[in-house]
Parts: sequence; C-alpha cells; structure tokens
Amino acid sequence: MAWQRLELAREESLGTPGPPLEPGEKRAVRVGDREILVLRLGDEYFALSNRCTHAAWPLTREPVEGTEIVCTLHGARFDVRDGCPTGGPTSKPLATYPIELRDDELYVRF
Ligand code: FES
Repeated sequence: MAWQRLELAREESLGTPGPPLEPGEKRAVRVGDREILVLRLGDEYFALSNRCTHAAWPLTREPVEGTEIVCTLHGARFDVRDGCPTGGPTSKPLATYPIELRDDELYVRF
C-alpha cells in the first residue's frame, strides 16, 4: 500500500491556499478505478467508498448526521469512521482508507 496525494479542485473563490475542505464539506474524487468520498468533520478527515453497499447509490450528495452518512435511496446508514453499517438494508461495510493532511494536501493510502 502506498500514499497517494488527492487532486481536489479547490473553490476558486477561496483564492489562497488552505485546508482542502471546510468542516462539514465532502467531495468525491476518482483515483484510478476507485471513487472515493472525502469528507471533513471538525478537524478530522475521512475517506471511504463513494458507493452505498446496498445498491451502489453515490453518496456524494447524501446527508451526514453526526458521524453517520445516510443513503437516502433506501435508508442505509454508515459510520464514516469505520464504514460499518448502523442501520438500513445492508450489513456490508463501506471500504475506508487511511487519510492524512500534510501541508494542506490530502493523502490517502491504498
Ligand atoms: S442504495 Fe443505499 S440504501 Fe439502497
């Protein structure tokens, strides 16, 4: 496994360098054949698969409640910290990936 820098398009209006995401913000990014959801809660970053394990619905625009992301298609809920389902029609966890912030850049290990 190797660390890989994520190419996240910054909001142009921000102008100056800074953290890649604001608290509560999330973004989907493609790395090779993987579609990763990167999100920031407080000062912590998380990286997980962007596809619900129930029927592959994209999670990019789905709500985050506390530490859970909710797939509104059929109601699955996942803890973003470990990808484990906490409710709904699936028992399969989302893949999660180690993520680090270094000099305002995010790195994910695959
Ligand atoms: S696709 Fe997410 S709950 Fe069904």
